[in-house]
Amino acid sequence: MTKRILSCMQPTNNLHLGNYLGALKNWVHLQDEPDSECLYGVVDLHAITQAHDAEKLAQSTREIAAAYIAGGIDTKRSAIFVQSAISGHSELMWLLATMAQMGKLERMTQFKDKAGKNAERAGLGLFAYPVLMAADILIYKATHVPVGEDQKQHLELSRELASTFNTRYGAPFFIQPEPFIQGQGTRVMSLKDGSKKMSKSDESDNSRINLTDDADMIARKIKKAKTDAEALPETLKELEGRAEALNLVNIYAALSGKAAADVVAEFAGKGFGDFKPALIDVAIAKLAPITARMNKLLADPAEIDRALAAGNEKASVIAEKTVRETREIMGFWG
Ligand code: AMP
Ligand code: TRP
Repeated sequence: MTKRILSCMQPTNNLHLGNYLGALKNWVHLQDEPDSECLYGVVDLHAITQAHDAEKLAQSTREIAAAYIAGGIDTKRSAIFVQSAISGHSELMWLLATMAQMGKLERMTQFKDKAGKNAERAGLGLFAYPVLMAADILIYKATHVPVGEDQKQHLELSRELASTFNTRYGAPFFIQPEPFIQGQGTRVMSLKDGSKKMSKSDESDNSRINLTDDADMIARKIKKAKTDAEALPETLKELEGRAEALNLVNIYAALSGKAAADVVAEFAGKGFGDFKPALIDVAIAKLAPITARMNKLLADPAEIDRALAAGNEKASVIAEKTVRETREIMGFWG
């Protein structure tokens, strides 16, 4: 096995188009890489770094797993695991936390965004979030981590922690994971504001397309999406400064598998009155089957639970070995 591919999402709210185009769609393709093994996690320990509803956590975990499977993750080839079921993640996090510098964690943009103005009151879990993420990755000795642009900084920290550990203990033990940020959907923006990324936490549901939205809802949200009054130009370059227009073109391109430059050329001279209906068609064609499969899986959660149990078993064999070896290297008793 030359490549070990690993990525995860948090079970907070439903997945949206940004998660699909920026992450899940690439995960599915990576399953076809020769000589590779894929592990995809639902990171519920990360989800509790912000206030959460205990009654909904297990169900949200199943929903994310259902989205993975419906989006094309094949549980025969790839393991889907639940972070909290594999205790090594928390243990390795502590071991790595002893090597993580506060100053670096303070500079993480996601922490700054999530903590907001009240950083003094933010929980230690939110602050240490990237260290847990490093543990998720290093515990599997992942070589490639497919994520959206926003996770680049966290991944850099994982690489640094791997190298700090190796230097401190004089052992080439942890592998430095490579970020794998590819495709045209690496940064899908909000439908309401082209300067903000599409996000689960945006208070306006119209800012995103959720994987659970039905065809009518998708059409309604795209119709309402912010645009401008100009027609589409002939080249991508001319879209500079038109963030909302560019975002819709990128979404169309990512959904249809075409290059963004070809999409603008195809619609050159047309306004959004023509472009939006075409975008609605591709969005529904691509997303409706996924939503249907998701709903079917959720109607029989036993199948999801079986897939998770099998994935946990596969992942825990790797995780336990890494933790055991880390403890030996660090010199613990027993
Ligand atoms: P999160 O929603 O923060 O749990 O992110 C899960 C995955 O989706 C990560 O790999 C993110 O980088 C990716 N992602 C989240 N939002 C976007 C977005 N607006 N555009 C592209 N990728 C995204
Ligand atoms: N922090 C990631 C996000 O918000 C989720 C995540 C947790 C992750 N652990 C990971 C992604 C390990 C890749 C690998 O999207």
